Amino acid sequence: MSNVWAAWLRRYDTDRFTLTRKQGWDRFVNAAPRDEFDTLNRRQMAGLGEDERADYDEARMVWNANLPTVRTSQLEHANSVIDMVMASARRDGDKLRGSVVIDAEPGLGKTTIATRYGRAFHRAQHRRYGTETPEGHQFLPVAFIPIAAQITLKGLNQRLLRFYGHPAAETATKDRLASLLVDAVISCQTRLIIVDDLHFVDFTNRNGTEVSNHLKWLANELPVTFVFAGVNLEEKRFFDEGLAAEEAVLAQTARRATRVPVAPFSISSNAGMAAWMALLRAFGAHLKLADGDTEMLVPLAQEIHRRTQGRIASLTNLLDRACYVAIKSGTERVTDDVLAKVRIDNAGENGARRL
Ligand SMILES: Nc1ncnc2c1ncn2[C@@H]1O[C@H](COP(=O)(O)OP(=O)(O)OP(=O)(O)O)[C@@H](O)[C@H]1O
Ligand SMILES: [Mg+2]
Repeated sequence: MSNVWAAWLRRYDTDRFTLTRKQGWDRFVNAAPRDEFDTLNRRQMAGLGEDERADYDEARMVWNANLPTVRTSQLEHANSVIDMVMASARRDGDKLRGSVVIDAEPGLGKTTIATRYGRAFHRAQHRRYGTETPEGHQFLPVAFIPIAAQITLKGLNQRLLRFYGHPAAETATKDRLASLLVDAVISCQTRLIIVDDLHFVDFTNRNGTEVSNHLKWLANELPVTFVFAGVNLEEKRFFDEGLAAEEAVLAQTARRATRVPVAPFSISSNAGMAAWMALLRAFGAHLKLADGDTEMLVPLAQEIHRRTQGRIASLTNLLDRACYVAIKSGTERVTDDVLAKVRIDNAGENGARRL
């Protein structure tokens, strides 16, 4: 006989979205959050049959591994900058818009910032204008394109067209691709294009320069605001387009793009520590452990910071695994002992050893 947790698991498989196609993006934008179920105490857990207990544990591991998005100050700041740049998006279609570049080290929440912004914008636009354009096309206010390694100009255009589900994405010639793309963006009235993992483009070689020029051309051609995200883009010369120093002043990208850095959490100031604790409380409140609570992670704040160097990706890894250990060992709470048993990502581990 099936139980509530098995039913819950069937509803909420973990692989819910593929964001690179409009269908997947649409599902991401419109998905309702997972329904919450009650956290059982030890007595209730002891009353479960073997299968029920296995299903309950599996369900809460899925739940625990999907932490809520917290409105951190990094996220709020980035949102406010994107909002500001989007203010120029109200310019008429023939005038140039600015772009935003979310530029930070790995695992600091760049993709989360960009996709959450895109989702909120998409929803607001659909609420206001409906889901079809006046000409009867599907209204797609946001397009999301993650870049792959070694991308070429043709590959970029193909990816964009694939997002729109355009049948010619695989067959059209290089020149034709670009014009099909402009048509698709204009007929679907896309207003925001998010290009993620831009660090895969090497701006110092020919392919990269071509891609960069093309992005500039698209920004000229399309009534769209671009949000780019990537690792160390300033160092990778995205802003000066790989030009030598004396030519760099000519780089148009630098004039058109607004850079948004994302910093790790620092606990060296009181305000920083308060922000870190607020994050740990938000995550602590979410986790389903019989002896867990909102305050569970607070006494561990220093140690967790040492282990993760204040990086949110390492923190989410640490918590996933700490919950796993807490459940399997029967500790049912994240404690010093539990943390000591957890290994996280390589960079996090190395960082902790250095401290
Ligand atoms: N504001 C947030 N609230 C909760 N979790 C977050 C937040 N920001 C990021 N995360 C989590 O941290 C992890 C890394 O985030 P994300 O993938 O957005 O980082 P990234 O900077 O794009 O990483 P990469 O450099 O690997 O592309 C993810 O598991 C994500 O869910
Ligand atoms: Mg990312």
